[in-house]
Amino acid sequence: MAEKIPRAHILGTGSSTPKRILSNEDLEHIVDTSDEWITRRTGIKERRIASKDESETTTDLATRASVKALEMAGLSAEQLDMIVVGTVTPDRQFPSAACMVQETLNARNAMAFDISAGCSGFLYALSTVENAIRCGTCRTALVLGVERLSTILNWQDRSTCVLLGDGAGAVVMRASEGEGGILSIHLKSDGTLGDLLYSSDANSYLPHRLEDIDPRPFLLHMDGNRLFKRAVRCLTSIAEEALARNSLSHEDIEMVVPHQANIRIIKAMAKNLNIPMEKVFTNIHRYGNTSSASIPIALDEANRNGFIRAGAHVLLVSFGAGLTWGASILKWSL
Ligand code: ACO
Repeated sequence: MAEKIPRAHILGTGSSTPKRILSNEDLEHIVDTSDEWITRRTGIKERRIASKDESETTTDLATRASVKALEMAGLSAEQLDMIVVGTVTPDRQFPSAACMVQETLNARNAMAFDISAGCSGFLYALSTVENAIRCGTCRTALVLGVERLSTILNWQDRSTCVLLGDGAGAVVMRASEGEGGILSIHLKSDGTLGDLLYSSDANSYLPHRLEDIDPRPFLLHMDGNRLFKRAVRCLTSIAEEALARNSLSHEDIEMVVPHQANIRIIKAMAKNLNIPMEKVFTNIHRYGNTSSASIPIALDEANRNGFIRAGAHVLLVSFGAGLTWGASILKWSL
């Protein structure tokens, strides 16, 4: 008899956000903006900003989120075969954030590496682990999205610094032949539109002379207007692709956990998909856009608050720098 291919199931979720809250009113003292503009255009009221003094490095936040996810899963770090982190703001270019988390968790049996896919980093990491589980390369894994975007923001640019925040989210995955788990993941990229959202990263073009090295090179640039329209189109089409692949209709989806970039983008996508906003989990008002961390943080909050019923079809959908975008449908088995 043919062996059944296992599916990747989520056994635990966790998240961690910095203590410091930066409200829209606080931002009024930093750039020429207003709470009214930010709320109306984005839905954001406040975001969290990491501080080294509070031990809130990328590794610290990721470790705290991981510990919570492992606790929920009832597993120890030693049981992990694989750690994959989606991030564009690791503490160091190398070693990877995943290896640094491996060290802090003492997950000595895991292979560990990062994935850079902008705000879609978590879904790209999830897909990597899902493939490894289906192939039998790994049975138990930790998948993270973690960012400290505050470190690469231009705090004089009101069109970007009001949008982003810091945080980490994690899920523990395990192979299981039982009902549910990840049904499919769909990923896309378009490098020709990379200039719509990038970090200037002057030093990566290797200045020839020491005195040319920019001491603070990583500044985020965004063409928000063009991204907005593209985001709505890409999120809608990739979600439709995921529904079609699984022969599901919009009515079969009980919960959507989208990347939290802008409440107007989320509402436009939900309208296109004919999914009421009551089924869409949002926390952008409290965290802003935390890039690759936004889906796992939202998933953890939705899960811990009992918003996801066992057996429910959950749609995850993301869009970000690259450009990259993706969607996944899972049958909740926690
Ligand atoms: N406060 C006050 N006014 C502002 C601010 C601000 N913080 N920022 C911009 N403005 C002004 C602009 O200067 C402009 O003024 P003008 O009309 O006098 O020229 C006006 O507001 C309108 O600006 P727009 O850019 O047209 O505003 P828009 O409605 O498009 O909203 C926003 C901007 C919020 C950035 C939106 O375009 C957006 O969310 N885009 C998508 C972002 C996204 O999805 N990014 C990808 C994922 S993120 C990631 O990967 C990290």
